[in-house]
Amino acid sequence: MSLTSILSVEGITKRFGKITAVDNLSLNLEQGYIYGLLGPNGSGKTTTLGIILDMIRADAGRYQWFGQPLTKEARKKIGVVFETPQFYPYLTAIQNLRLIATIKDASPETLDELLRLVNLFDRRNSKFITYSLGMKQRLSIAAALIGDPQIMILDEPTNGLDPQGISDIRELIKKINTRGITILLASHLLDEVQKVCTHVTVLQHGKKLFDGKVHDVLAIDDAIEVNADRPDMLRSVLEENENVNKVLTENKLLLVVTKPGYPVRSLHEYLISKGIIVTHLAVRKRSLEKHFLDLLKKEEK
Ligand SMILES: Nc1ncnc2c1ncn2[C@@H]1O[C@H](COP(=O)(O)OP(=O)(O)O)[C@@H](O)[C@H]1O
Ligand SMILES: [Mg+2]
Repeated sequence: MSLTSILSVEGITKRFGKITAVDNLSLNLEQGYIYGLLGPNGSGKTTTLGIILDMIRADAGRYQWFGQPLTKEARKKIGVVFETPQFYPYLTAIQNLRLIATIKDASPETLDELLRLVNLFDRRNSKFITYSLGMKQRLSIAAALIGDPQIMILDEPTNGLDPQGISDIRELIKKINTRGITILLASHLLDEVQKVCTHVTVLQHGKKLFDGKVHDVLAIDDAIEVNADRPDMLRSVLEENENVNKVLTENKLLLVVTKPGYPVRSLHEYLISKGIIVTHLAVRKRSLEKHFLDLLKKEEK
């Protein structure tokens, strides 16, 4: 195990009667990244988070935090933001945070800074009950940051928010990550994972369908549209390139699938070197969504 391991999960399984909510799931989180746990409703995300936080007992499997079983001390290094924020409605934001700091045995000195970070400093003396949902969610994030966590876990943090609220939370997550805090974000929104995460684990029926870097997932089967002055020659020249995996025809264009990591620029230079004048060259990104949907379809067969 590397020194930077935050969480390692090995083969956790959880059944509720006939339902297998989590099915032999393994995960590995390393320090500094933003991990997405992506799956439709009921795919086992919340149950997984419950297990790794020792709130739900798994039927099988193991997990370790920071290379060890979860201790009280280690638990303090994990900030948690679950769906419904829990605060005292008639206390102010700052009063609520002070209480949490006391419970967590953390210094109250950082609270003003945290309130500024989540953009609630000006409203720190307002009662929690007067807050909008977006403000409540941002306060939850501030609360989770008390005690200087190494990782922050968020379960569907943008549910129910308006577009501005959603964008605020996503920006905030990225900002928190720039402080070196690892993030684990459970979401049913592809778009959210694409925008926020560096890595993704796709869940369906509690099973891991796929995991990897979001960039790699996006890069899989990227196709390059090509056209040239000599379409007849173009195909054979492309097929001679060992970095080209596939050449497909689509209307008047050729769609080229190259090996991962082969730059478009190199393909262009290659064609020029073969005396071909390129009249069209464009990258067509295959979205994570498409990839995800394909995987789901495969699964259903
Ligand atoms: N306490 C429970 N009792 C019975 N079934 C449960 C319980 N918690 C979750 N489930 C079931 O387990 C599956 C996974 O749920 P959950 O982990 O909440 O998924 P997600 O968070 O991805 O929406 C669902 O089929 C859900 O109905
Ligand atoms: Mg859930």
